[in-house]
Amino acid sequence: MIQVQQVNHTFLIGKKGKEKKVPVLKGLSFEVKQGEIVAIVGKSGSGKSTLLHTIAGFMSPEQGSITVNGQETANLNETERAVFRLNNFGFIFQNFQLMPGLTAFENVELPLKLKGISPKKRKESVEQMMDKVGLTEVGDHYPNELSGGQQQRVSIARALITNPPILFADEPTGSLDSETEQDILLLIQNLNQTLGVTFVMITHDEEVASIAHRTFKMRDGELVKGDAL
Ligand SMILES: Nc1ncnc2c1ncn2[C@@H]1O[C@H](COP(=O)(O)OP(=O)(O)OP(=O)(O)O)[C@@H](O)[C@H]1O
Ligand SMILES: [Mg+2]
Repeated sequence: MIQVQQVNHTFLIGKKGKEKKVPVLKGLSFEVKQGEIVAIVGKSGSGKSTLLHTIAGFMSPEQGSITVNGQETANLNETERAVFRLNNFGFIFQNFQLMPGLTAFENVELPLKLKGISPKKRKESVEQMMDKVGLTEVGDHYPNELSGGQQQRVSIARALITNPPILFADEPTGSLDSETEQDILLLIQNLNQTLGVTFVMITHDEEVASIAHRTFKMRDGELVKGDAL
């Protein structure tokens, strides 16, 4: 489903004229299969988020190839890539990133509005999705009227409402207490099993990595050879 081949990326860091080249991704190659949960672990600064941003098409790597469902994402222009993301990827973040002025229901509905789906169909899909993630009671709450776990459920529902085959998560439980984290991990496992969604998750947390089918460890921009590779 996702093929990463010989991906290299260097950032220029520092003051103008005195920039330093810092290699952040060094010859990464791996595959993620359909229906897998993959965890990416590694120390702060090892390049995890940069890797996720390249796979998800927010930035192009300097070198290498990334194909998703057979599409070489580097070959797409900005607009094509945005459309590709909207059709193929969902995202969840550590700090949820919900729209504060929209209710839980409206947050989940937003991607469907962007896709031009009719109000009647939107209502139907959102209600089904809210039910699936256990949010039926709180649809009219604003984000600041929700617990952290509920906010993350909203963000998962919003990520999945367009039926993307792949969901990316950067520290999805990083802001949650351990009990709420367990709830969210069970939800992720459930969605993986019932909908067949592929998950690629960055985490510092062993509990989170424990639900992954495979774990990739990054060190200084490289993948440490292990069982996963
Ligand atoms: N936009 C950028 N410009 C320059 N350097 C960057 C940029 N983004 C990241 N870096 C550098 O690239 C390296 C890897 O950063 P990255 O954010 O991928 O690490 P990470 O593994 O996600 O760390 P964390 O666990 O702290 O989130 C770091 O040294 C960072 O300073
Ligand atoms: Mg990061």
